[in-house]
Amino acid sequence: MSFEALLRVPALTGTMWTVTLFAVAVVLWLLYRKQCFSILKNMGVPGPEPSILFGNMLQLIKKDPIKSIDEWLKKYGKIVGYYVGTKPVVLIADVDLLKRIQVSEFHKFVNRANVVRGGPERKTGKEKRVEGFSQHLVALRDKRWKEIRSIITPSFTASKMKQMAPIMNSAIDSLVENVEKKSASGEPFDMYPLFQGLTMDVIGRTAFGIHTDSQNNPNDPLLRSSKVLLENDIRNPLALLAISFRSLETLWSWLGRLRLTVKNKGTNPLRELIESVKKVIAMRRGKKESRRPDLLQLMIDAEIDDLKNVTTEELTASGGTDNSESQSKSSSTNKLIRRMTDADILDNSVIFFIAAYETTSTALAFTTHLLLHYPEAQEKIRAEVQNLLDTEGNLIIIL
Ligand code: HEM
Repeated sequence: MSFEALLRVPALTGTMWTVTLFAVAVVLWLLYRKQCFSILKNMGVPGPEPSILFGNMLQLIKKDPIKSIDEWLKKYGKIVGYYVGTKPVVLIADVDLLKRIQVSEFHKFVNRANVVRGGPERKTGKEKRVEGFSQHLVALRDKRWKEIRSIITPSFTASKMKQMAPIMNSAIDSLVENVEKKSASGEPFDMYPLFQGLTMDVIGRTAFGIHTDSQNNPNDPLLRSSKVLLENDIRNPLALLAISFRSLETLWSWLGRLRLTVKNKGTNPLRELIESVKKVIAMRRGKKESRRPDLLQLMIDAEIDDLKNVTTEELTASGGTDNSESQSKSSSTNKLIRRMTDADILDNSVIFFIAAYETTSTALAFTTHLLLHYPEAQEKIRAEVQNLLDTEGNLIIIL
């Protein structure tokens, strides 16, 4: 085209410019998404075809995740790749490979995907702290994870669990009472909500140091907050959008908070939980007489010497050995002692709550289901329990 001819092309109007720029932006965005969704294919990991908008989220939601994953494993083999939003996930069902990842080569797989991000601070460029989330075991990475994990692990030894047994027993007493009341009516009843209440009470009392009574008081405000917070439904459209279009995370997090606040009748449930735990931590630090034999106290008291000597084995709470005792001995030397800050304790209480609630209540309910269907196994367990009660007087065993 000659220069004169070019001059005769009508100039783009404002609207045309807008449409053109929008079209270019959409094309660039689609190219970017296409590139995101080519990672697994390029790595040779087989799996279901992702959609450009939602990755494989819609497939997961439509069938339910367990069913979809089951089908994919049958179709593609023991290693399957799929996308949660644009995030590639590699699902491994090969036991030998899992052992390498979780045991022999674990040092290469310490970090998890970053779930909650605060974004960079304007002045320092450092990641902003998200209260309740930034400093817990699931979010921490590399050396910092190892450090906090080595401080927390001794709190889970059998002897420490034994100290917490009275707290757990009092919650179990309520469960037994409630089961007896319900079975007296002769009507069938659902055990799952009862196990949810039990788990909520044990974790609330041990990790948060708050005396919840969710099994007997369904209107407990803390119970309401926790339930709102822990209600995870993958079909929630807001969650689907937030997972699929992560770049708008400020908007999703604002909408998420708004949704939680509305569901929790006007107060942010996470804020309520955080404020309660902060108060308890401050009280425990301030007054010796408010000490309690629970997980929260163990975290407040926990200390380790400098990390250099911590081995991978020491990151696992072994039955009878109680790492913290030997550590407190060496703490009398001039070595560097590490303790958890209030923020570390707060965030890890929150993750204990989240990590323990669904897992434990589901495991208890499923175990009950299996015991009902396998009466011979139930009899065997009953005999073992009875034997232990006869010989030891209680069920607390140090393995
Ligand atoms: C039957 C019950 C439970 C099951 C099936 C279960 C399952 C798991 C699994 C599979 C992981 C590893 C996840 C990963 O590698 O990304 C994990 C990690 C974790 N669980 Fe549990 N869990 C249970 C109970 C609990 C309880 C009661 C607590 C707290 C009191 C808890 C706290 C944690 C924490 C903090 C982590 C992260 C550990 C770290 O990164 O160092 N879990 N759990």
